[in-house]
Amino acid sequence: MGRKLLLDKAHIEGIRYYDTYRSNGGYAAAEKALKTLGPDGVLDEVKKSGLRGRGGAGFPTGLKWSFIAKPEGVPRYLVCNADESEPGTFKDRYLMEFIPHLLIEGLLISSFALGANSCYIYIRGEYAWIPDILEQAIAEAKNKGWLGKNIQGTGFDLEIYVQRGAGAYICGEETALIESLEGKRGNPRIKPPFPAVKGLWQSPTVVNNVETLAAVVPIINIGGDEYIKYGTGKSTGTKLISACGNINKPGVYEIEMNISVEEFIYSDEYCGGIKNNKRLKACIPGGSSVPVLPANLLLKTAKGETRMMTYESLADGGFATGSMLGSGGFIVMDEDQCIVRNTLTFARFYHHESCGQCSPCREGTGWMKKVLQNIEYGKGKMSDIDLLWDIQRKIEGNTICPLGDAAAWPVAAAIRHFRDEFEWHVANPQESQTRNFGLAHY
Ligand code: NAI
Ligand code: SF4
Repeated sequence: MGRKLLLDKAHIEGIRYYDTYRSNGGYAAAEKALKTLGPDGVLDEVKKSGLRGRGGAGFPTGLKWSFIAKPEGVPRYLVCNADESEPGTFKDRYLMEFIPHLLIEGLLISSFALGANSCYIYIRGEYAWIPDILEQAIAEAKNKGWLGKNIQGTGFDLEIYVQRGAGAYICGEETALIESLEGKRGNPRIKPPFPAVKGLWQSPTVVNNVETLAAVVPIINIGGDEYIKYGTGKSTGTKLISACGNINKPGVYEIEMNISVEEFIYSDEYCGGIKNNKRLKACIPGGSSVPVLPANLLLKTAKGETRMMTYESLADGGFATGSMLGSGGFIVMDEDQCIVRNTLTFARFYHHESCGQCSPCREGTGWMKKVLQNIEYGKGKMSDIDLLWDIQRKIEGNTICPLGDAAAWPVAAAIRHFRDEFEWHVANPQESQTRNFGLAHY
C-alpha cells in the first residue's frame, strides 16, 4: 500500500469537523510553525521539501514564495486557487469537501510564512456546496483561536475569505483570478509583472493551488527532508490524481510519486484496470490541456524505459513522445473511444472559454473547432488535417495566457499520434460518426 500524507485521515468519521481533526493531530503543524519554526523556518522546510505547484505548472513553491516582494507598509496576500476547472480534474474538490481543516491549516502556515494577514480562497462557482463547508471550518478555526487577531498568542493576525467564481474556466489563470477577485471581468494580465510583485490590488501576492497549500501541513509535520523520500528526483512527496474515463475504479487517489503508470492503471489499489476488459487505447495524464499519449508511449517512454507517475517521466521525450503530469487529471480511453470526437469536445470547450483578448486564441480556437466539426461530421477534406496543424502552431506561444497553448497542444498531439484516425474519418464520411477507428494503430 502506498503511504499517504494528505488523505491518510480522510476515512475518519467526522474529520470534516474541528474537534475530530484536532484530536487526530490537526493543527500540530500550525503550532510548530507559529511557535517554533517562525516564517523563515517554514520557508526553509518548504524549500527543502522540493514541493512543486500542484495546479498544473509544477513551479517550485519555495522559490515562488521567496519571490514575494516586501516593500514597507504594503500588504501581502495569499490567494488559494480553488477554481479547479481543468476537464478531468477533481482532486481539490475532494480535499475541500472532506478535509477542509487541512486546507485551512495549510493556509494559516503559508500566510504566516509569507507575512500575509488576509487570505482568499477563490472557488469555482460550480462547486456550489463547498463554500459552506469551508466557511464552517473557518468559523470553527476562528472560534478555537487559529484565525483572527493574535493567533494562539503569537501576535500574528489572519482572516480567510471565501470568494465564489461565476463559472469561467479562465478565472483559474492566476491573473484572471486576481482581476475577478477585484470585481472585474476575469481577463488575464500580461506577465511580468508576476503576482509575487504586483498581484491583488497591485500588492505582492502568492497564488497557490489547494493541494499545494494543503501539502504544506505534512511538510511541516514531518520536515522537508522526510517529505522528499515519498517521491523521486524532482517529483517529491505525494500527489493527488483524479482518475476517470474507461477504468474500473474512477476516483481520487493519493500516490507516492515513485510508481509506474502501468501500476497506477492496472493495480487494484488504484484504477483497477480497463473497464469491461477492453484494451487501453490512449490517456491524457494531466488534465485536458496536456498532450494525449497512445498506449505504447504511455506505459513506456520512447527510450523503452518504464513511464513513471512523475513530472520528469511523463514529460520525457518532450511533446514529440511525452506529455505532462499537469494537474493530475488522468483521463483513460479504451479501444472504443474516438480521438477525433474527443479532440473536438476539448476544442469546443477552449473556444467557449477563451476570454477573447488575443486574436490567435479567440479566432484560432473557433477555427479549430469548425475544422474538427467538419472532420467528425463527415464533411472534412484531407487538407483540413494540415490546416488544423497549421492553426494550432500559430496559436502556441502567441497568446497572453496559457489557455491558447492549452487549446493548441491537444490538437497537435492528436494529429501527431493519431493522424491515421483523422484520415480514416475523412476517407469514410458515411461512417465518421457511427463507427470508431478503434485500435488500428497497434
Ligand atoms: P506558469 O508556468 O506561467 O506559472 C507558474 C507559477 O509560477 C505562477 O504562479 C507564476 O506567477 C509563477 N512564476 C513563474 N515565473 C516567475 C517569476 N519569474 N517570478 C515570480 N513568479 C513566477 O503557469 P500557470 O499559468 O500558473 O499555470 C498553467 C498550468 O495550469 C497549466 O500547465 C495547466 O496544466 C494548469 N491548469 C490547471 C487547471 C486546474 O483546474 N487545476 C486549469 C487550467 C490550467
Ligand atoms: Fe484570453 Fe485566450 Fe488570450 Fe488567454 S490566450 S488572454 S484566454 S484570448
